[in-house]
Amino acid sequence: MKTNKLAINGGKPVIQKGLIKSWPPISDLDRKLVMASLEGGKHAHGPNCKAFTEEFAAWNGNKFAINTNSGTAALHMGLVACGLNAGDHVLVPAYSWSSSATCILHNNCIPVFVDIDFATINIDVKKIEAAITPKTRAIVVVHLHGLPVNMDAVMKIARKHKLYVIEDACQAHGALFKGRKTGTLGHCAAFSFNQNKCLCAGEGGMFVTNDEGMYHKARSLWSFGETRSPEESRDYHAYALGWMYRGNDLTAAFGRAQLSKMDRYFKIQREHAALLLDLLKGTPALILPTEPKGHTHNWYNFTSRIDMRAAKWTGEPSMLRNAVMAALKAEGAQVGVWQNFILPRMTVFQAKNAYGKGCPWDCHLTKPVKYDPEAYPVAQHHTDTHFGMTNPLRAPNGKQVVRATARAFLKVFNNLDQLDVEHINALNQK
Ligand SMILES: Cc1ncc(COP(=O)(O)O)c(C=O)c1O
Repeated sequence: MKTNKLAINGGKPVIQKGLIKSWPPISDLDRKLVMASLEGGKHAHGPNCKAFTEEFAAWNGNKFAINTNSGTAALHMGLVACGLNAGDHVLVPAYSWSSSATCILHNNCIPVFVDIDFATINIDVKKIEAAITPKTRAIVVVHLHGLPVNMDAVMKIARKHKLYVIEDACQAHGALFKGRKTGTLGHCAAFSFNQNKCLCAGEGGMFVTNDEGMYHKARSLWSFGETRSPEESRDYHAYALGWMYRGNDLTAAFGRAQLSKMDRYFKIQREHAALLLDLLKGTPALILPTEPKGHTHNWYNFTSRIDMRAAKWTGEPSMLRNAVMAALKAEGAQVGVWQNFILPRMTVFQAKNAYGKGCPWDCHLTKPVKYDPEAYPVAQHHTDTHFGMTNPLRAPNGKQVVRATARAFLKVFNNLDQLDVEHINALNQK
């Protein structure tokens, strides 16, 4: 039997089942802190929430932090913290998680999309100024997949046009721009602690800022529009519109345990990414992720693209990508498509159906915006050609998993001619 016969065609898979372990690693410290919280009797906004908030702020280098029940909540708090008003326009990359943009709608503001830069997959900083109008008040920058945006360029534009900058650092724990941590580079920032994030607490998030006024505005939205925190004697009075965005004690206990291991996780991810990049460099038709000088990636998601021309594929790019991914999965590699749609193509924007009856787009306080998906060709091309990977680069997986993953990639990319692309796509659709 040919040893290079792809597993999708009946060959032997490269990676044996069970080799890749799930995330995050759980130790006695996680068990101890979570059990102590469980037995402690304060399961809502309890002592672990306070401690987690303080520890995270100290770790990240922020003066103020607020523990939330999601990254999306922390993003919404960012819009409010910046004092944005109904109808204000907010720039956001055309490729991200949906709530990088829907958080803008949560505050009755209007998202305006900017195409991405293919190399970094982040907002194209060269295209920001062309999208600014007199209605623009802020930019949500997303440090996508853990690679920081060029914040020197963003802040220069923001200063020139008097814009606020909200960092969506939901994927970027520990990542650095010119030696400074994400979440300290704009006016405020949001982190997520959901299952897959580099800091996992199950679910949850953190709003951070160095500005006391912004902190108080965010805190009011976070807890029912009140002005006092749950640790103080509350007057249970809604001074403004607020939600219930508070974290809970068990989740915070888990988050604290994981935070204490973050620096080690970060080092492991960087070592593993460096090894994988080295093992895969020069692979035909495989576009590997980049880390420009001055940007320190946390490798939350190791995202590759397929060079369609080098692969000699002239059909729909996503068809070859789907076939390659199916072949990689058959070899036992843990890869996946992160997004199937660019943001402006999503129904909420195409149908403008957020609050019904055209709100907030038809509000008399705003100016009309159009969402033409064809205006973001780079984001679309990235979407159609990418596939990503998270767990294999993370603890508790070691270099053995990285090497096995590289072998799976090499086997598939060196044998693209074995793929029956149409057939695999037809099977995928069943
Ligand atoms: C870039 C980005 N922004 C925002 C979010 C939202 O975070 P959460 O799921 O904690 O609300 C996520 C998480 O999936 C994300 O990846």
